[in-house]
Amino acid sequence: MAKTYALADIKQHTKDKDCWIVVHGKVYDVTAFLEEHPGGYDIILSSTGKDATQDFEEIGHSNSAKKLLDKYYIGEYEGGDSAPPAAKVPPKSANAAAREAPKGAATRAFHVVLPLLILLAALAINFYYASLKK
Ligand code: HEM
Repeated sequence: MAKTYALADIKQHTKDKDCWIVVHGKVYDVTAFLEEHPGGYDIILSSTGKDATQDFEEIGHSNSAKKLLDKYYIGEYEGGDSAPPAAKVPPKSANAAAREAPKGAATRAFHVVLPLLILLAALAINFYYASLKK
């Protein structure tokens, strides 16, 4: 079974020669990765000694960046995954598309319904004047 680490353990590894980070309830020893990190080693160092899930996700790391994490996995974090379940499932773009779909549908409906309403109003006025002439 994987080893479980507490926050106190995490706080012991915050140096550039010995650096762990916590993302989504898992602990990673990223010492060897620090120099390779495209965002720079200092930004990772600033996310050590705590749960870095939010920092990691806020940047919008790519899927390949997320896969890269596996390479450095050393165990589970006692505090679990801090991210809410909803935030874990849908990727950003799918989320945006889902939000836009109903709006698109509503706009389309509006474009159909509005001319029909105008037509109905015109017919009603026509009938009204026709009935006046009788
Ligand atoms: C071990 C964990 C991490 C891995 C494996 C990782 C990996 C990567 C990779 C591969 C990129 C290139 C862009 C991409 O593919 O998304 C990147 C960019 C970046 N990362 Fe990380 N990252 C880690 C942790 C962090 C943390 C904790 C932070 C702190 C907030 C951070 C901040 C950034 C920033 C700011 C960039 C953008 C760099 C730029 O575009 O100039 N990363 N990271």
